Amino acid sequence: METYEGAATIEKVASLCRRRGFVFPASDIYGGIGSTYDYGHYGVLLKNNVKQRWLDAMLRERDDIVLLDSAIIQHPRTWEASGHVAGFSDPLVDCRTCKNRFRADHLDQESCPRKPSKRPGEGPECDLTEARQFNLMFQTTVGPVEEAGTRVFLRPETAQGIFLNFRNYLNVMRRRPPFGIAQIGKSFRNEITPGNFLFRLREFEQMEMEYFVPPDQAAAAFEEWVQARFDWYVRLGLDASRLRVRPHGAEELSHYSSQTSDIEYLYPIGWSELEGVANRGDFDLRQHMEHSGADLRVFDPATETHYLPHVVEPAVSVERIVLAFLVDGYAEEEVAGRQRTVLRLHPLLAPVVAAVLPLVNKGGMPELAERLYAELRASLPVEYDDSGSVGKRYRRQDEIGTPWTITIDGQTVDDETVTVRDRDSLAQDRVPLGRVRELLAHRLASSTDLSPGD
Ligand code: GAP
Repeated sequence: METYEGAATIEKVASLCRRRGFVFPASDIYGGIGSTYDYGHYGVLLKNNVKQRWLDAMLRERDDIVLLDSAIIQHPRTWEASGHVAGFSDPLVDCRTCKNRFRADHLDQESCPRKPSKRPGEGPECDLTEARQFNLMFQTTVGPVEEAGTRVFLRPETAQGIFLNFRNYLNVMRRRPPFGIAQIGKSFRNEITPGNFLFRLREFEQMEMEYFVPPDQAAAAFEEWVQARFDWYVRLGLDASRLRVRPHGAEELSHYSSQTSDIEYLYPIGWSELEGVANRGDFDLRQHMEHSGADLRVFDPATETHYLPHVVEPAVSVERIVLAFLVDGYAEEEVAGRQRTVLRLHPLLAPVVAAVLPLVNKGGMPELAERLYAELRASLPVEYDDSGSVGKRYRRQDEIGTPWTITIDGQTVDDETVTVRDRDSLAQDRVPLGRVRELLAHRLASSTDLSPGD
């Protein structure tokens, strides 16, 4: 598949996210602040589920990974050692005519703001400057006075906090390679051209794991992690035909990497990086050892020698994953002569697993519905919805991706059975009220068999 053929566009997904309370433009009442977003109730729940599934894969499906939550602002020499002060930059060109800025290496993906059918530089009035390097790190100062030595950076990746703590994990956590340190946290990049909704942001949440191995195991670990991360997406329901692994050519490798493969997803904007897996070798530990003077080597009792481990790193942002699942799950279809928009999110990602709907607000139905809601709420993310026609409520739940809706109707009052509607098949099963919790738990558990290949 070369071009995206689904119903979603970035605009439609962004509109659904706003309309249904997933994502709002930040500082909206002041006119917004470009490409920065706030996450509403369902957005927070969806992001939490993405993070939890990632943590499950790191911590519950294996036992060689531990956690870290490091500071956003680290010693400024961190970024000299890591190479970010010297090399974390993009080439920038200005147009003297329209005063817009573009990434010099992305001109083929942009359009001229004055003549959108042309690329920047191709219009008759375009007047581009020479490219100059623009460092992507946000700077600020520590303390009340701006003077020499107070300049610090907001981290552009979470990875460096892991390298700075490596010695603690050897000494305090008594870990020896192979083992990994996983971290989820905000990263900041002053992107020249952010955009495409959640795809390229200036503030985003990264999930990174640095896997430390003896040097001779790095090549195998790299292959294993590329496969493991690819499988994770497929197991959570992402269409495998919209996923591919693309190895980097030598000219595009980051300064720290000897080998990188991107897991790409076919977004409506075309094939783009979802997650990167890099073999960072011993670049980071060596740099920090040289710049700090701290000994970051590991002792190998078998050979009685010290060595610097190599590092394999899967790195992704929660937002790119969220965007991929929103695009992948988005569908528009006709049901019984009416249009519906549905988000086919995996039950383990859906913000709400089930909604309880009394058909009408009388005749004993609300009491039974509230009783069921209270019972389910204790163990599952469920929602109670009694406003509007039942058809409207189904549409609302379809749009937020709720896999099952439970309707309490007149028959429930007579025989204590309810209907359970399936978001995808639209099948409506009549089941005893007292067995709903068990049924949902069972359905959820059958969707949680996360062994590869399912
Ligand atoms: N520690 C390695 C690293 O940060 P990267 O390829 O620059 O590598 C890793 O970033 C991942 O972070 C990307 O694959 C993407 O998922 C996410 N990412 C990077 N820049 C982003 C941005 N501006 N907005 C949203 N996500 C971003």
